[in-house]
Amino acid sequence: RDSAVNQNLLEDHSFIQYKNQVENVKVVKERLNRPLTYAEKLLYGHLDDPHGQDIERGVSYLKLRPDRVACQDATAQMAILQFMSAGMPQVATPSTVHCDHLIQAQIGGKKDLARAIDLNKEVYDFLSSACAKYNLGFWRPGSGIIHQIILENYAFPGALLIGTDSHTPNAGGLGQLAIGVGGADAVDVMADLPWELKAPKIIGVKLTGKMSGWTSPKDIILKLAGITTVKGGTGSIIEYFGEGVETFSCTGMGTICNMGAEIGATTSVFPFNNSMVDYLNATGRSKIAEFAQLYKNDYLSADQGCEYDQVIEIDLNTLEPHVNGPFTPDLATPISKMKETAKANDWPLEVKVGLIGSCTNSSYEDMTRAASIIKDAASHGLKAKSIYTVSPGSEQVRATIARDGQLQTFEDFGGVVMANACGPCIGQWDRQDIKKGDKNTIVSSFNRNFTSRNDGNPATHAFVASPEMVTAYAIAGDLGFNPITDTLKDADGNEFKLKEPQGVGLPPKGYDQGENTYQAPPKDRASVEVIVSPTSERLQKLKPFKPWDGKDAERLPILIKAVGKTTTDHISMAGPWLKYRGHLENISNNYMIGAINAENGEANNVKNHYTGEYKGVPETAADYRDAGKKWVVIGDENFGEGSSREHAALEPRFLGGFAIITKSFARIHETNLKKQGLLPLNFVNPADYDKINPDDEVDLLGLTTLAPGKHLTLRVHPKDGEAWDAELSHTYNAEQIEWFKYGSALNKMAAAKK
Ligand code: F3S
Repeated sequence: RDSAVNQNLLEDHSFIQYKNQVENVKVVKERLNRPLTYAEKLLYGHLDDPHGQDIERGVSYLKLRPDRVACQDATAQMAILQFMSAGMPQVATPSTVHCDHLIQAQIGGKKDLARAIDLNKEVYDFLSSACAKYNLGFWRPGSGIIHQIILENYAFPGALLIGTDSHTPNAGGLGQLAIGVGGADAVDVMADLPWELKAPKIIGVKLTGKMSGWTSPKDIILKLAGITTVKGGTGSIIEYFGEGVETFSCTGMGTICNMGAEIGATTSVFPFNNSMVDYLNATGRSKIAEFAQLYKNDYLSADQGCEYDQVIEIDLNTLEPHVNGPFTPDLATPISKMKETAKANDWPLEVKVGLIGSCTNSSYEDMTRAASIIKDAASHGLKAKSIYTVSPGSEQVRATIARDGQLQTFEDFGGVVMANACGPCIGQWDRQDIKKGDKNTIVSSFNRNFTSRNDGNPATHAFVASPEMVTAYAIAGDLGFNPITDTLKDADGNEFKLKEPQGVGLPPKGYDQGENTYQAPPKDRASVEVIVSPTSERLQKLKPFKPWDGKDAERLPILIKAVGKTTTDHISMAGPWLKYRGHLENISNNYMIGAINAENGEANNVKNHYTGEYKGVPETAADYRDAGKKWVVIGDENFGEGSSREHAALEPRFLGGFAIITKSFARIHETNLKKQGLLPLNFVNPADYDKINPDDEVDLLGLTTLAPGKHLTLRVHPKDGEAWDAELSHTYNAEQIEWFKYGSALNKMAAAKK
């Protein structure tokens, strides 16, 4: 440890390491001999080996040492089960688990929470006991949404956080790099391995001027999404700079960074500034604010003259409120054009539901601005025309707006206050006002609006906007309404215009923390037992996979020769399978059920090589395994693209797979396969893919001398005819070859701890 300043008020074992980070940055700067952007300083400050690491933006892979790990309850289950297999007494990096995704919004906060606690009891008991055992902080259901809790308690300028949720970048609003990852990455960091990230490119977004009136921070990211599209940020960090950066609140910056995920960015970040100091002070962390000020020049600001890979400029003086959607967050329409655009596209004009809150937009400022509009409308005798729901981001925000009256304002307006949880944002919404298939419009202050995401209805046209715009829509009930130019009729039929929203960045009376929903790990952890019921359908302890038998593999059947796009969704579907994320055996029943069999063009219908019988892919794989037969999969290009879901690699291993041989892999999936002890291999000559028949048997030769860069041989035995050889390449380094030999990266780790 190089300082006595704690990262937060809840732990006494995690310290801020600015001194070390400044030294790392110095080393890198001397090597690169150029000024660095803010994001680069934070990245390079966390390098495992600043002297030896190759650094080229967009090219090299950085090995990093994050300050902490955060997991939400849906992804934490498998991450923790895997961590348990590493055989370590506690996590090596400070970590927390947050119960927010499994709470369904039905009738209102309290009742919904009680029902969720009952329904998910075994998952919560497992997470709570595992956190106590392995020294993780546990945030109980009702505490709030992971990203709000992080911002309120754990984020600080200059830090590097990884989180098992795509909106982890929210914490960029407090000047840190916060990056969404898959569970396997989280396990590595919890187990003290460095974390690998392709050195991102840096896109600079220059903010000039100052916002006013109905425009809010949300509109910056809505506008940016319109400029870049959903793919524009891929492989890049978005770094904000310019005079406009100093003109709004820390929570507003959080909103912008949160939604950077919608343009595919690795993360987004604002440089350390005064609004962050104010927020740290208001959340009881003045010591951190003072400490950060000391490092403002060396570490917590971009160097003069630093260069971005691309610069986009947004003028806040002229920025209009935007409404993005439907069905995609990058379809941006400024409010002045909404009426004509909606009519031209035949979007339903009646706004059925307005939803505010979520991890994206539920700060005190958001709530006070929304409440100010409602009060104005109420003074003219108006209530909500649409259904109006509020999802507070945290217990702290809920308790504070309950004390300060905004919550009452929402309820008087006709609003329903939901649990402090994800709720409708992740589709945990028992929507009753329309039938499935009915075309309708909803507007939310959330971040995503993909088809069916909120209510499972593909005909719902979901738009995203700021909480103040959502509230204005809920009053008018009309998607064509523009509060800047249009009037409403009061209770007596007189026309009036809504006043511009007025908000307060931070609560004048301070935050009310509300109910204590945090469970700190106990001092005596040795006696804690992790609770996993052996009869559970949702949770199952992992058994270590068997090590490699030291021999080449001969005469393996091909489970499936997959043709065309095979994403992680084809390999391990989501939807109803979500509930089995903590139960490897049960979730393995979805293995490759979406992949297309080259033999018959069908999904989930493959021939058993030995019996000739056609069955589903997972059943056939299990039949081979139970008969003691290893198998391989033959795959097409970019196999495993999509998410970093580790289940897509755990499942084939559990079902007895040995190698996945493709034209090419998506990189994260390839690494995940290696981690689970499977062999991801590539055809050196892609035309060999076409020559393979799903009925063939294959040998894998050269394994006993497996070495980095050395090719292997695939000997193909057609049913009739001569055997022929195909050359296979791989991307194993020496360390990863050990994973294969031990049976998995976790086995290797567990062996090293003995
Ligand atoms: Fe939850 Fe929606 Fe955020 S699912 S974490 S509130 S994006």
